Amino acid sequence: MANELVIKNLHVEVEGKEIIKGIDLTVNKGEVHAIMGPNGSGKSTLANTLAGHPKYAVTQGDILYKGESILEWKADQRAQKGIFLAFQYPMAIPGVTVASFLRTAVNAKRKALGANGSSKPIAIPEFRKMVLQKMETLKLDPAFATRYLNDGFSGGEKKRVEILQMAVLNPEIAILDETDSGLDIDAVRIVSEGVNALIGPNLGILVITHYQRILNYIHPNFVHVLVDGKIAISGGAELALQLEEKGYDWVREEVSSGK
Ligand SMILES: Nc1ncnc2c1ncn2[C@@H]1O[C@H](COP(=O)(O)OP(=O)(O)OP(=O)(O)O)[C@@H](O)[C@H]1O
Ligand SMILES: [Mg+2]
Repeated sequence: MANELVIKNLHVEVEGKEIIKGIDLTVNKGEVHAIMGPNGSGKSTLANTLAGHPKYAVTQGDILYKGESILEWKADQRAQKGIFLAFQYPMAIPGVTVASFLRTAVNAKRKALGANGSSKPIAIPEFRKMVLQKMETLKLDPAFATRYLNDGFSGGEKKRVEILQMAVLNPEIAILDETDSGLDIDAVRIVSEGVNALIGPNLGILVITHYQRILNYIHPNFVHVLVDGKIAISGGAELALQLEEKGYDWVREEVSSGK
């Protein structure tokens, strides 16, 4: 079977400037990959490019999903086919409630996947039950369902609602861009448990983070360090601990000495 997500010699330009300078990375279902790296190294650019943000231009290389190039796929198509991005900075959508946003997304995905008989819109009682159950897992007050999406949400609430979206949409590839930033100590655990409940043979995850802490809960199989648009070093979970202790300078030194 084809690998789930294959990033091949990816080069990305933003506003005419090359930010991603040749990344190769394969993420299979059942795997958790952590991506770390200094500010401005291109982590969010990689995430946005995978999600199909129109501002990010792929100038070289390819992104394959289940063996097929997705470079021509628009963001909504990628989402409907099972690629999910939890944003570093979730945007507010005043006038659209969390519940209606989620229901629209679920129905769009059902419509796109179609064939297996579930292409009809989800029945409202079924939807309500599913969302309430997932909110409970994430310790989110049910009142959030009727609030406008991210409008006035605290930083931590936004991040929990991102994971609620992930739980409801059930993606095959999930990219979490600093989902742990701004979460209090309990919330990191709660959100991680929410993510862990989704981890399994049908999901591959890319966790972008600055801190080892979340990786104590969401155990990575692989850790990659992005420096200046390239993966400078890859390793196992121990690499995150090493970075926490030693910082990034030694990685930069290894890169510049050509190792
Ligand atoms: N839409 C954009 N317009 C202009 N420059 C951009 C845009 N998106 C990214 N960049 C630039 O690309 C570089 C990489 O940014 P990116 O957000 O990918 O870094 P990051 O690794 O996610 O950093 P952080 O750890 O701070 O989140 C930065 O210099 C940034 O200013
Ligand atoms: Mg970022």
